[in-house]
Amino acid sequence: MTACFAASSGQSIPTYVVSPQNFDEFRQSLDAKTKSWVKSNQFSGKLGQALVCPDQEGGFDRALLGIGTPEDRKRARFCLATAAQKLPPATYHLANDFDLPSKDYELFGWLMLGYSFTRYKETKTPVPSLVAPDWADRAKIEAMVQAETLCADLINTPTNDLGPAELEKEARELALKFGMDFKVIVGDDLLSQNFPMIHTVGRASASKPRLIELRHGTKGPKISLVGKGVCFDTGGLNLKPASSIGGMKKDMGGSANVLALTRMIMDLKYTCQLQVLIPAVENSVSANAFRPQDVLISRKGLSVEINNTDAEGRLILADALAYAGERDPDLIVSMATLTGAARVAVGPDLAAFFAGSPKNAAALRVSAEKGKDPVWELPFFEPYEDLIEPAVADLDNAPSGGRAGAITAALFLRRFVPNPDRYIHFDIFGWNLTTKPGRPFGGATQGARAVFHALDDLVNP
Ligand code: BES
Ligand code: MN
Ligand code: ZN
Repeated sequence: MTACFAASSGQSIPTYVVSPQNFDEFRQSLDAKTKSWVKSNQFSGKLGQALVCPDQEGGFDRALLGIGTPEDRKRARFCLATAAQKLPPATYHLANDFDLPSKDYELFGWLMLGYSFTRYKETKTPVPSLVAPDWADRAKIEAMVQAETLCADLINTPTNDLGPAELEKEARELALKFGMDFKVIVGDDLLSQNFPMIHTVGRASASKPRLIELRHGTKGPKISLVGKGVCFDTGGLNLKPASSIGGMKKDMGGSANVLALTRMIMDLKYTCQLQVLIPAVENSVSANAFRPQDVLISRKGLSVEINNTDAEGRLILADALAYAGERDPDLIVSMATLTGAARVAVGPDLAAFFAGSPKNAAALRVSAEKGKDPVWELPFFEPYEDLIEPAVADLDNAPSGGRAGAITAALFLRRFVPNPDRYIHFDIFGWNLTTKPGRPFGGATQGARAVFHALDDLVNP
């Protein structure tokens, strides 16, 4: 279900956004009856307070939303939604002037209250809807909601309905919708066209491995986006234990994020020469599965010793990154649910990223604030390079000991790009563990808005 703004033509309830700082002044503007209603309901503009004021007919003629102090707001992401989620279902419009950082994304948060994953079960919980205020960049906000919805739906769909073949279909539909060129290399063609590691990781699945490619544009900077599309990660022969195999339908979260970012770029017409690559596989167990200690020769020619078949993401990304590098892009961004280590480091709500250029890292921090899409930088720490160099091959896919697991994975990927300064890698979770205001349980974007709003800077590191 896609959330959107309400039509502005109908009736809507005037809604006042109030903070403890401006509460007294706001109170003065009220009639005596409403003043005592506000008092008896103890409304004071605290973060998350919502109050509707009754009219003569037993309905309500206005609503108040508390957005708290700047200190309180540091703990929340979508402050308006934190209060608005408590409103009774009806249509509202914002009636006063208020000051909040990233106001457009406060509206995004409100709209996302209306998202639910309805593929298997119609959930008809009515939510408060919002008329777009005059000051809002409506096209941008709705594009962002559509992108978020696409990403959430893709991640939430289980592997029996979203294996490599269906992920291809989804990507093809997006390409068709926006007039992008589409190409896919499937199964044994991956071998003849030199994508050996994508083939190796995906060959044990009944749904063939493939490399999906979308392209668009002949003007502007060359941007390549690469997303991990592991539709299910059993771990392979290094089978995941029950405690961690459970969530692994979401291991295509990187590809879902890259498609969401693609949707933003296309919908909002960002001028660039875009290439989108999704190595789509299922990391399965079968007689022909790849094994620990196998040595693979990658597209780039580097040999890779398999130390753990559960470190599969970096293998498929490596071949896709090498291919992206062949067009010498201005920017390569990879997004992947790559390591548990990144989650241990920054938890579920921060997107860990690595940037070859400090200027790019700074740009991402700024745009993350703007897009309400928190990110945190981890280092490409060169002294750890030798951890990924085993005795028998150029590279080890899973250094034993597992220390600095997110960093060693990022260093591994970086070996496959032509220009490290022009490379950004996101190690994401892609999942909301609980429903928070504007952030519904399940699949979610991470880092996509931050990248989108920084693109102008990122292509000039
Ligand atoms: N997809 C997982 C990483 C993952 C696990 C992301 C849970 C988000 C939540 C990845 O393929 C993986 O299994 N990584 C291993 C790498 C290790 C074997 C070097 C990990 O992180 O344990
Ligand atoms: Mn794995
Ligand atoms: Zn994985």
